[in-house]
Amino acid sequence: MSLPVLLQNLLFEHKLEKAVAITLLISLAIVTNIVQQVLFKNPNEPPVVFHWLPVVGSTMTYGIDPFKFFFDCQAKYGDVYTFILLGRKVTVYLGSKGNQFILNGKLKDINAEEIYSVLTTPVFGKDVVYDVPIAKFMEQKKFIKSGLQSGALPTYVPLMQDEARDFIKGDLRFKGSCGTVQIPKVMAQITIFTASRCLQGIEVRRKLDNTFADLYHALDDGFQPINFMLPWFPLPQNRRRDIAQKKMTQIYADIIKARRAGAEKDCEDMLWSLMGSVYKDGTPMPDSEIAHMMIALLMAGQHSSSVTSSWIMLHLAAQPEIMEELYQEQLSVLGDASSPFTYEDIQKLPLVTNVIRETLRLHPPIHSILRKVKNPLPIEGTSWVVPPSHVLLAAPATMGKSDEYFPNADKWDPHRWEAMADPADQEKEKMDYGYGLVSTGADSTYLPFGAGRHRCIGEQFAYVQLTVVVTVMVREFKLKNVEGKSGVVATDYSSLFSRPMEPAFVQWESR
Ligand code: HEM
Repeated sequence: MSLPVLLQNLLFEHKLEKAVAITLLISLAIVTNIVQQVLFKNPNEPPVVFHWLPVVGSTMTYGIDPFKFFFDCQAKYGDVYTFILLGRKVTVYLGSKGNQFILNGKLKDINAEEIYSVLTTPVFGKDVVYDVPIAKFMEQKKFIKSGLQSGALPTYVPLMQDEARDFIKGDLRFKGSCGTVQIPKVMAQITIFTASRCLQGIEVRRKLDNTFADLYHALDDGFQPINFMLPWFPLPQNRRRDIAQKKMTQIYADIIKARRAGAEKDCEDMLWSLMGSVYKDGTPMPDSEIAHMMIALLMAGQHSSSVTSSWIMLHLAAQPEIMEELYQEQLSVLGDASSPFTYEDIQKLPLVTNVIRETLRLHPPIHSILRKVKNPLPIEGTSWVVPPSHVLLAAPATMGKSDEYFPNADKWDPHRWEAMADPADQEKEKMDYGYGLVSTGADSTYLPFGAGRHRCIGEQFAYVQLTVVVTVMVREFKLKNVEGKSGVVATDYSSLFSRPMEPAFVQWESR
């Protein structure tokens, strides 16, 4: 045998040995993992969802369709169970008791910032939201609340209306009298234009047409689920995110500087409001924090509202008779469907409100709310204790998708709400966590905006924005599904916010 052939054979054997060794190790890990689950169950901890592969655990089944996963596991294990998500132990606690346990847990026991900060701080910037102690964040929530709630909302309605209408009139996709559009793309743009005009101020709105949009997308790409578990992983989009974060901060810093240097305060917006905010200890909110908070608000509202408006349009295209009812509602309440409408006007459109409610019930943008466990947490009525190494997961949206609370739950039927109490009336139990009374959610089966100290403060703003956008779309267009399609597209759960699976086309026709 010649030397090269001998060497080749040796190498082959060596590689073979290595491959055999790796295969043996993996098999051993799999077998140990299975034996451990079957024979050595820990009676003091919630049951673990059976999984074949260690580390990978239930990552795939949860990631593909979290709601199917929650319901399948609930049928097998009950309301409390633990599953493996990329090597971490995640304990799910469903139902009202679970919401109460996780969303209203004591501060010393349960913590949001240690989970979310790895993802949000590189996008928002330092010293805001989850990068500060909770007491400071609650003060920051109080600062932003005023710009997002009742007093400011009436002034936003005409601005949003103009933005939505101008967008439709100017967009090439709506040239002519009918056509087909990818609706999520359109709704994402309408959402950012309407929100930024009111919250971010005229300077930011003007910049939206050029570099700002690119920076926004680079920041948005930083919200990859992988960054939750492996934040150190050198993804190219994380580098782009970091560059965009610095540039975006500079844009806001320049705007704040210009305003401080003497720009006339000719309107109320979030930026002016934060520029006048002072912490309890007398320190004014620093400009860097204001800039970072503005980025946080830009990102926080965009996804949920844009995705919700896309689902609404998809359902209206699938059930054009509801779109017609919405149009008739405008005619009967507002007298016509072409004059500008006010904040007071849109309070009188119950079907629009019910369309939004129903869409948030069936398509909650946030399916999983996560918290870090800080101390061993006993689960009442069981022998189980959730240890500090676990992450807790609340999924209040599962109740909204359950036939037990919403008969025929899979059906999108805005009219179901006519026979039901206002969800706000269900939320009777309230607490003040430092930024006003909020619902604990203990008594509610419908919580698309969460509950407890981390409850959404953008709810009222989102309702106004969605109502304006839906009202404008309804008066401009008739929608229907593209030929040969029925119902709506499936849900894409691959990003942090659930959204319609693309492509998601609808056909439009001008009224
Ligand atoms: C349809 C629209 C929206 C939905 C469904 C929604 C949903 C939620 C949910 C479920 C939470 C709780 C998260 C948790 O407990 O971990 C939350 C928190 C929050 N949302 Fe929203 N949101 C929406 C719109 C907005 C808008 C428009 C803004 C602001 C412009 C906003 C700002 C916030 C903030 C600041 C928090 C607090 C986070 C915390 O305290 O940890 N949201 N939202």
